[in-house]
Order: sequence, then structure tokens, then C-alpha cells
Amino acid sequence: MVNSDSSPPPLLVATGLCKSFGGIKAVQDAEIQVTCGSITGLIGPNGAGKTTLFNLLSNFIRPDKGRVIFDGKPIQHLPPHQIAREGLVRTFQVARALSRLSVLDNMLLAAQKQTGEKFWQVQFQPLVIAKEEKQHRERAMAILESVGLASKATDYAGSLSGGQRKLLEIGRALMANPKLILLDEPAAGVNPRLIDEICDRIVSWNKAGMTFLIIEHNMDVIMSLCNRVWVMAEGKNLADGTPEEIQCHPKVLEAYLGK
Ligand SMILES: Nc1ncnc2c1ncn2[C@@H]1O[C@H](COP(=O)(O)OP(=O)(O)O)[C@@H](O)[C@H]1O
Ligand SMILES: [Mg+2]
Repeated sequence: MVNSDSSPPPLLVATGLCKSFGGIKAVQDAEIQVTCGSITGLIGPNGAGKTTLFNLLSNFIRPDKGRVIFDGKPIQHLPPHQIAREGLVRTFQVARALSRLSVLDNMLLAAQKQTGEKFWQVQFQPLVIAKEEKQHRERAMAILESVGLASKATDYAGSLSGGQRKLLEIGRALMANPKLILLDEPAAGVNPRLIDEICDRIVSWNKAGMTFLIIEHNMDVIMSLCNRVWVMAEGKNLADGTPEEIQCHPKVLEAYLGK
């Protein structure tokens, strides 16, 4: 499970990221790397700056300073939708499914490059659009199958449980055909049986070639899934290493157990 020494190249490299909110230094000179094909973990006590780091990587919040290279290109100046088009998508700590739409429609909204969005193409290319819609539908159903939600396709997203919403969020991320998915606490508020299912599915998507960066408080999830783990505390990098190294790292133990 752990990467060999001849590691593949990094897919994401962020360096020197800083973000303050008023007087609060949420992220201070943070760095992170995600190797292509890995499941990388990001952990740290509450308020460590993990979600803010995700927001900086995906430019949902503009960094005060710092550089983000994704797939060999600087992306820190691109708007979030363009970053998603480059192949970096994220999910949210609180799942953001549109509850009054069906599960399938939530998936279709997440599809990239919809020809039908452009007015002139609606006028002149109905056949192209119909074909594209059919392809998106088929793809959405295949992904819903892979997240275990195919039988819920026509249900309102609002009727899903917390865990099922997390799966829908991951499904929506997969719909964008990304290279890297950032998952913010995929196991939070999810019942234990569904946590195992989410983990199994992450492993199988990873085996199919998807790279993940995962924030998670559930250490069993982090330890069983991740090749490498980065630790933050008080906005800064504290340590990084294999799950085994991190588990017995004195600074990490101190940050979690208190000084
Ligand atoms: N939009 C915001 N405005 C003000 N403070 C924020 C904002 N977002 C995060 N913070 C603060 O930044 C710090 C890091 O938060 P966060 O990134 O959510 O931590 P984590 O995800 O590790 O729990 C916290 O002190 C939090 O209160
Ligand atoms: Mg958070």
C-alpha cells in the first residue's frame, strides 16, 4: 500500500501558502505534496487550518501568499471553475447537494463542458446536445452505481442520509472527470457501516487511477487508506510521513494530546 522509493511525480505541489482572517493566521507558510496515484491524508486538531488549506488549493479563498502547481502548471491565479476543469475538484465538509433536485440531476449539474449551456449551440446543435446529454446520463448512472446510489437516482437529494450525501458529493466530484479529488471529512457524521463502504469505494477508485487528498478525523480511516499523511497544527506544517511514522511522531502526539 505504501509508495515505493521510485515514487511517481507529484500531481500537486503547494508551497508557502498563507492566509489570515483579520488577526487569525489560519494558514502560515504551509506546504503539501500529493503524489500521482496516491491517497494522501491531511490531519490536525480542530482549527488547524485544514479546510482553509483546501480552500486555498482550489482558490475558493485567495491565498495572501504562496504557490500551487497542479499537474505541472501554476493554478493559484485561476478561478475555482477553471481549476476544476484542469482536473482538481473538491468536496465540502458539509455536503452541498441541492436537496430539491433529484440525485441524478445533482450529478448532471456537476458534468463538465455542457454544450447545451451555450445559447447559439442550443439553437443550432440540438442533436449534438441530445447526444451529449445521453452520454452524461449514462456516465452519471454508472458513477451512481459505483457509489451505491443507483437505486436512489430519482429520489430527492434531500431524502438521503448524511452518509449517502457524502457519497453523492464524491459522485459529483467524479462526474467532473478529475485527476485529483480533495475530500473534506468524508466519514464525518456517517454511520460506521457506511464509513467502511465509503473507504472500500475510495480504494477501488484509487485502484482505477484516481488520486485523493483526504482530510479526516477518523484515524482508522486515515491509517487504512493513506500512503502518506501530512499533519497541520495552528496553521503550520507539523510533520509528514507514512501513517506508521505519523502515528508515533512525538510532535503529532503532543498536538493531539495537548502540551
Ligand atoms: N472565513 C473565515 N473567517 C474567519 N476565520 C476563519 C474563516 N475560516 C476559517 N477561519 C479560522 O481559521 C482557523 C482554521 O480553520 P479551518 O481551516 O476551518 O480549520 P480545520 O479545518 O483544520 O478545523 C480557525 O481558527 C478558524 O476559526
Ligand atoms: Mg475543517
